[in-house]
Amino acid sequence: MALTDFDLVLFGGSGDLAMRKLLPAMYARDVANDLPPTARIICVGRQDYGQDAFLHTVETTSRPLIKSPAVTAEAWARFTARIVYVSLSATDVDSYGPLINALRPDPVTRVYYLATPPHLFSQICDNLAANGLVTPNSRVVLEKPLGRDLASAKQINAEVGKVFAESQIYRIDHYLGKETVQNLLALRFGNILFEQLWRREWISDVQITIAEKLGVGNRMGYYDTSGALRDMLQNHLLQLLCIVAMEPPTSIAPDAVRDAKLQVLRSLKKFTPTTLAQNIVRGQYRAGHVDGKAVPSYRDEPDAPEQSRTETFVAMKAEIDTWRWAGVPFYLRTGKRMADSLAEIVVRFKHIPHSIFNQPTSSFQPNSLVIRLQPDEGLRMNLMAKTPGDGMRLKPVELELDFRESFKSPRMDAYERLLLDVLRGQLTLFMRGDELEAAWEWVEPILNNWEQDDTMPIPYAAGTWGPAAASALIGRDGLQWREEALPED
Ligand code: BG6
Repeated sequence: MALTDFDLVLFGGSGDLAMRKLLPAMYARDVANDLPPTARIICVGRQDYGQDAFLHTVETTSRPLIKSPAVTAEAWARFTARIVYVSLSATDVDSYGPLINALRPDPVTRVYYLATPPHLFSQICDNLAANGLVTPNSRVVLEKPLGRDLASAKQINAEVGKVFAESQIYRIDHYLGKETVQNLLALRFGNILFEQLWRREWISDVQITIAEKLGVGNRMGYYDTSGALRDMLQNHLLQLLCIVAMEPPTSIAPDAVRDAKLQVLRSLKKFTPTTLAQNIVRGQYRAGHVDGKAVPSYRDEPDAPEQSRTETFVAMKAEIDTWRWAGVPFYLRTGKRMADSLAEIVVRFKHIPHSIFNQPTSSFQPNSLVIRLQPDEGLRMNLMAKTPGDGMRLKPVELELDFRESFKSPRMDAYERLLLDVLRGQLTLFMRGDELEAAWEWVEPILNNWEQDDTMPIPYAAGTWGPAAASALIGRDGLQWREEALPED
């Protein structure tokens, strides 16, 4: 669907997200000829850079990040001609004059992308409204963190909701923009094979892992007040869980999908202080080696509080109280400075009920489906097959689908896809306000419990898979994390 003309206004326009992700994403879409010729990107910041100095920063910061296709002088000139830098103080209603002058009148679509700390959301929305800048053709995009608990998430929803209708609000979770997440929808609802098996009778457990080798880098100010639960689990992991576990929506329409996801969030079994202690492991990395390189302990990272109790790792066993999922554990895990960088969902099926071969049923590896988001994108189905030659010995084999190999079409980064969807007015891949609140509501007892608990997260060496307690958590159910279950090469 062709885009209609737009002014994309990036608040936080000189910030990290704009420079590293949003401008490169818009460049890629420009090169792909997706943008109308007169569409513009208005970058808003506090600093009075001036247009030339700002474009110089874009040239030195964003341009080197664009790897493919190689940037040509002509394409770069066409792209940067779209960029307008506007300096104003987001909190000062009287300073919006330069933005008023830069914006074009209706029917040009206005997209206000708030890549700012969340405490500014409400004031920016109020100031846009007070200056008469919110037209029926306007949309607002909210970047995480969308609150730090239920109360602050509700406050954001209420305050932004005073200015924008729900149908104008795009809450970003960039994991929903990843190719494989959408492929998971295709897999579940574009094939007849899985739906009958996608339930408690046939599935033994589901694992969702997002592991990163990276540490906290220069984001300590944000990260230490957040931690892995808020930074990754409340949003990215729960969104993946929703896509795996939701009932078939009646269509791909935004509210059909969002209703189905909301139902999952509301069906998650609530933790009590006792179940929480038994089913959640939190960790914090200590010095170790990642890719053979020595890396410091979390508490020795620049600006880290000496006695920080912030978790950099969390693993949990969650359950969904529905007919479809009752009794099926969903193991969720995420951490920084882990042994590998990967994001994957593993759906494990039950053991065969009876062996007709001269092998005990326990020697049959249960079927599993591995949905890989990162670093490579693909699907792997583990089956049992006969070993060639004499006799009847079965062993595990893999059916593999590598999306990159199978589809030669050019890739789109998550931000490219999500930005295009906002510009098109397509809400399916964005969280609705009630979803956001339901996710915080479920996480809140954990946050409260940790707040009152002065024990330390369990230390783990950087470059490992986290504390041994995370293996014990799943081991208690007679299971293993996938990498622990893999045969040694
Ligand atoms: C962000 C978190 O939302 O996701 C970061 O704030 C994390 O801490 C990042 O590194 C991971 O995203 P991706 O796409 O690199 O897996």
